[in-house]
Amino acid sequence: MNKSALHKISYGMYILTSKNEDKVNGQIVNSVLQLTSNPITIGVSVNQNNLTHEFIEKSKVFTISVLSEDAPMNLIGNFGFKSGRDTDKFEGIGCKTGDNNCPSVIDSVVACLELELINQTDMGSHTLFIGKIVNGDIMSDENPMTYEYYHNVKGGRSPKSAPHYIEADIKTKGDSKMNKHVCNVCGYVYNPEEGDEDAGIEPGTMFEDLPDGWICPTCGVSKDEFEKKE
Ligand SMILES: Cc1cc2nc3c(=O)[nH]c(=O)nc-3n(C[C@H](O)[C@H](O)[C@H](O)COP(=O)(O)O)c2cc1C
Repeated sequence: MNKSALHKISYGMYILTSKNEDKVNGQIVNSVLQLTSNPITIGVSVNQNNLTHEFIEKSKVFTISVLSEDAPMNLIGNFGFKSGRDTDKFEGIGCKTGDNNCPSVIDSVVACLELELINQTDMGSHTLFIGKIVNGDIMSDENPMTYEYYHNVKGGRSPKSAPHYIEADIKTKGDSKMNKHVCNVCGYVYNPEEGDEDAGIEPGTMFEDLPDGWICPTCGVSKDEFEKKE
């Protein structure tokens, strides 16, 4: 099979949140799909090892926040490359509680969809959760971020736990004689020709000259986790 055919399927970028009693957790998903319009139902594919999966099974509620194009990479890194088992992902993050009594992210979000679980299908590695809409609202007029925009414009990657992960995902942008460095945790590539605008790093800054406190813009690990890419 030509696996490139799969890359022709379009997706969006979302933060899926759920709760377990007074605890809240969330993760990045791209696998969101409206299934029916009457009633409005939405499906999402979630890895069975994820803490968010455990929370949805327990509380039977979840909310999907649609990310805007200007969502910072460290927000995606926080929710997409870390597990709530190791960290409180909601520290310093703006959120609200919806009609389904489930907290959701409101920072860098264009719309929120509040759901109650009505069905689920075991897909082996993942579960397809199906929810019925109880409420939804527009939060901003910004453009929603597509999966393609995340990869092609923001230079983002996907972890192995994502349903659409592909090995070829980790590659550098452009050609350069300056050394690029790859993050061993998330696959982000530091390209000295581009620098890191969000962190105030000018284009032309060599990896070796980055300040010690510089962190991976995607997953937040330190410089020590990077290795040179020839
Ligand atoms: C771009 C992107 C897309 C992702 N899509 C999905 C997805 O659709 N389903 C899924 O289960 N995980 C997906 N992930 C991975 C989860 O966000 C990730 O495993 C997260 O750390 C799980 O967190 P948790 O254990 O706190 O629930 C994606 C990650 C990224 C960066």
